[in-house]
Amino acid sequence: MKKLAMAMLVALAGSAWAAPDWSKVAPRKVTLFYPGQASLEWVMNKPDHSAVPDIVDKKRSCAKCHEGDANEIGDKIVKGMAVGSSKSVLEPTPLKGKVGSLPVMMQTAYDADKIYFRFEWTSPQGGDTKADPKNEVKLTMMFDGGGTVDGSNQNGCWATCHQDLRSMKAPKDDKKTKYLKDADLAAGKFMDLMQYRSGKGEKPVDGFVATSREMEGGKGLQKAEGKKDGNKWVVTFERSLSGGGKGDHAIVAGKTYNFGFAIHEDYSNARFHYVSLGYQFGLDKAVPEVKNYINVVKQ
Ligand code: HEC
Repeated sequence: MKKLAMAMLVALAGSAWAAPDWSKVAPRKVTLFYPGQASLEWVMNKPDHSAVPDIVDKKRSCAKCHEGDANEIGDKIVKGMAVGSSKSVLEPTPLKGKVGSLPVMMQTAYDADKIYFRFEWTSPQGGDTKADPKNEVKLTMMFDGGGTVDGSNQNGCWATCHQDLRSMKAPKDDKKTKYLKDADLAAGKFMDLMQYRSGKGEKPVDGFVATSREMEGGKGLQKAEGKKDGNKWVVTFERSLSGGGKGDHAIVAGKTYNFGFAIHEDYSNARFHYVSLGYQFGLDKAVPEVKNYINVVKQ
């Protein structure tokens, strides 16, 4: 009797906390690409990148121009070819065999309490220095508080990516990681950060990027799980809508959240990752005119 009651409880709890039915969610293909040293300072410098007036004056998003050619950009940069109007080499140390882009199928859904993200991709083979021997894969997602971080509605994560970071063009030191200029935690001017790490014994990271990158403080991320099947990776995040910790944005209906994500493949670290352009999501809110917007549907 006791056993049966227990089993029923477990079954009930199981259904109440079940992950969404992903077969009901249309996947969205997002092409991640290898950015090399394409920092915010580089992409926002007109002599390097002729698009700056379009970004600043016309508020064009990176995705608007590059969603279709992100793979070509990555191919050029990863090989150390000269890019941009200034013919800059954005990868001074090309890694033999590293591919320039990574197509990812992304899905997201929400329920009464939580939002869920699912990412699926095929591991490209080889080509890295294995600078992070512990983690074959890291998947990191950042999002703002619904238009709270200047520029992130166009550039996603680029606001946090600077030329003075470690492994970038003018590193301040070998520890310096992402930051936001004009960050203000109380005013919501920060990027919430969630990370999955594949290494044995590694825990999900729930942090944020403000004046510096913090890898703890959040209370919203409840699960970050990953599985490799053959060469196929699936990583999922389960996050409370309310957040509630330090550096957590609450996710509510009516707002448009700016986000981007990155994958460190093949034990890589620092800049040697694949990144998405800036995307947006909102809860049950259709914005058909914006191509890089994802409507998250309730289950
Ligand atoms: C209005 C369209 C437009 C927008 C918006 C735009 N770009 Fe570009 N981008 C270009 C063009 C055109 C080039 C080719 C070089 C040039 O003209 O400077 C380019 C080149 C690049 C390159 C070098 C690769 C190459 O093939 O030359 C990178 C990296 C890049 N853009 C990243 C970005 C990022 C990141 C953003 C958002 C902050 C962005 N771009 C926004 C049009 C755009």
